[in-house]
Amino acid sequence: MQARRVLSHLRMGQPLTSDDARWMVEALSAGDLSDAQAGAFAMGICHTPLSMEARTALTRAMRDSGDVLTWDLPGPVLDKHSTGGVGDCISLILAPALAACGAYVPMISGRGLGHTGGTLDKLEAIPGYRVEVSADRLRQVTQDVGCAIVGPNADIAPADKRLYAVRDVTGTVESVDLITASILSKKLAAGLEALVLDVKLGNGAFMTTREEAQMLARSLVETANAAGCRATALITDMSQPLATAAGNALEVIEVMETLTRSGVTHALWELTCALGGQVLHAADLVLTPEQGADEVSTALSSGAAAETFGRMVSALGGPADFVDRWRDRLPAAPVIRQIRPPRAGFVAGLDTRAIGEVVVGLGGGRLREGDRINPAVGLSQIAGLGEEVSQDRPLAQLHAASEAEADRAENAVLRAYRIGDVPLDPPTLILGSVYP
Ligand code: URA
Repeated sequence: MQARRVLSHLRMGQPLTSDDARWMVEALSAGDLSDAQAGAFAMGICHTPLSMEARTALTRAMRDSGDVLTWDLPGPVLDKHSTGGVGDCISLILAPALAACGAYVPMISGRGLGHTGGTLDKLEAIPGYRVEVSADRLRQVTQDVGCAIVGPNADIAPADKRLYAVRDVTGTVESVDLITASILSKKLAAGLEALVLDVKLGNGAFMTTREEAQMLARSLVETANAAGCRATALITDMSQPLATAAGNALEVIEVMETLTRSGVTHALWELTCALGGQVLHAADLVLTPEQGADEVSTALSSGAAAETFGRMVSALGGPADFVDRWRDRLPAAPVIRQIRPPRAGFVAGLDTRAIGEVVVGLGGGRLREGDRINPAVGLSQIAGLGEEVSQDRPLAQLHAASEAEADRAENAVLRAYRIGDVPLDPPTLILGSVYP
């Protein structure tokens, strides 16, 4: 009866109360809500936005539907979450860099979603790396190494798992309230003291307007703080891939080049430092975000972050010599070809979502749940906005499993680019910030 009452109220546009939000999540976890009721609940929230109190109650209840980790460590427990994009491999650099700064980072990450890549899929390109570990192992590796990037186990926010599956098939993923509760329930279950959110904006992100990105960033920051986790957000550009590679092993290569300073990608370095600076500041480890960014930069340039990454890989089942031998350890695709532009000029437009879809189409992402990923495929040396391209400077290098797949992908990449006659300034990487 209670579910029918709550759903009727939502249908009539009456605001959800905090008590009702808690009751619905408990019923969801206990199996007392049918999928139809869970779908109606999600649809009701899409039509009747939540108050701050109700959104926080929903988030807390979803967090508390499973295990919530607690820590007793000599440094703060921190994390970062990105709303997802193409070539966004920051987590692999930032987690060890924060650990090298004295923080602890139990990073519970996700897989690729739609056209965007997933941190877990990237790490699984490293032979032997295990993302599915118990809470005890996550705890142990975080304590010993300083960071552990793993997947959520069944005991982390199970109510979100159930609701997310229902949202996925009822057209209710795109609700700021539901996205906020979903993302934060899992992050807060890791027992974080501070969190930085990287809200992506642009044609390769889920948020394509500044208003949407701002609204999501504000919702995430306010709700996390109300739930007891100090959080800030940066709104960052996703009008082109963040790294110059998109694809699982190819992004790990770029991560290793940046961590070992053998081929630093400027955008990866800059954003890692900016996000790290924010979260170190939120945790009161530094006086300003800029000072925090300097500390992260030092952790990268000293090699301490690379060394920590190597220890994490080894602790989670990957090769013990990965930092020295990563070039030999990562899989390579059998077909590699240059994609040359139709004419010389400057990159005037780039459909970043289409670039992400090319990687998925090559087998680097999933079309259906449970699809196997080919870690070797994707694009590297992707020309960015404003860059000059010619027969000598191709649009990208393509890595495919077969010539036929390479042909299909090459055509799609050519369609994703617009070539102009005049150079343009590259886009600004950090577009805004949101503080509590
Ligand atoms: N990622 C999540 O974990 N949940 C959402 O609702 C959207 C993105």
